[in-house]
Amino acid sequence: MSPDDGARRLVLVTGGARGIGKAVARAFAQAGDRVVIADVDGEAGEKAAAEIGAASVTMDVTEAASVDSALAQVGETIDVLVNNAGVVAGGGPLVELPLEVFDRVVAVNLRGTFTVTRAVAAGMIAAGRGGCVVNISSIGARQPTAGLGHYEATKAAVDALTRTAALELAPYGIRANGVAPGPVLTPMTAGLMSDPAARAAWESRIPLGRIAGTGDITPLVVFLASPAARHITGTVVQVDGGQLLT
Ligand SMILES: NC(=O)c1ccc[n+]([C@@H]2O[C@H](COP(=O)([O-])OP(=O)(O)OC[C@H]3O[C@@H](n4cnc5c(N)ncnc54)[C@H](O)[C@@H]3O)[C@@H](O)[C@H]2O)c1
Repeated sequence: MSPDDGARRLVLVTGGARGIGKAVARAFAQAGDRVVIADVDGEAGEKAAAEIGAASVTMDVTEAASVDSALAQVGETIDVLVNNAGVVAGGGPLVELPLEVFDRVVAVNLRGTFTVTRAVAAGMIAAGRGGCVVNISSIGARQPTAGLGHYEATKAAVDALTRTAALELAPYGIRANGVAPGPVLTPMTAGLMSDPAARAAWESRIPLGRIAGTGDITPLVVFLASPAARHITGTVVQVDGGQLLT
């Protein structure tokens, strides 16, 4: 763990070793919070944490035992949880999609978000000083793309969990919101975006005309977890260059 300073918030970012999660971890650290990166790739998490000035733990969000032991290692109440770990795991039309792909995406995106929220929010309630949860969803929860139905279904479910968490945790001063990006340049999408035709097809769906960078997503995540958002809970806000308008 990083230097103990109880006055600063403790932020846990799942899947923070790279991509959106790493950028979110960096943004919170730059805002003065203490940050823990929790990633299934422990080595990459450690490397990212060293770069950012954060701490790291190895956590597989699909395994309750791994979540519990990682949180025990953190050993403190978490003030802000960012459920960012997510996968696409493959793709294809629903009639062809292998069940293993479906099960994998449900395990990481939905079961993982549930498992980590359950454990962390219980700790927040016990500590009695409130807290925030920000779930990284996707505009795919609201707009279908052929071949991504398995992934989009998990993100729609994450949005439902966000609303229930907001309702159930409000009496404890804990807020829960979501951020729903459109396509973002990260290691997850790097392969796809390196194909000029595929990239142009995605760009053509975005009124503002470009694929997001991680820096387009982080400000909203930091805002939703800030005191300025104290009356906002149960929302899922898109950051998509207008794609949901089309
Ligand atoms: N990139 C996009 O276009 C895009 C768009 C909308 C939403 N999102 C969402 O944003 C989030 C981050 O996406 P990204 O593009 O940065 O992905 P990424 O693949 O670049 O990074 C994901 C990180 O999550 C970690 N991870 C994967 N499985 C895990 C597990 N079981 N336990 C803990 N950590 C695990 C990986 O090790 C990796 O560090 C995901 O939830 C994704 O669905 C991404």
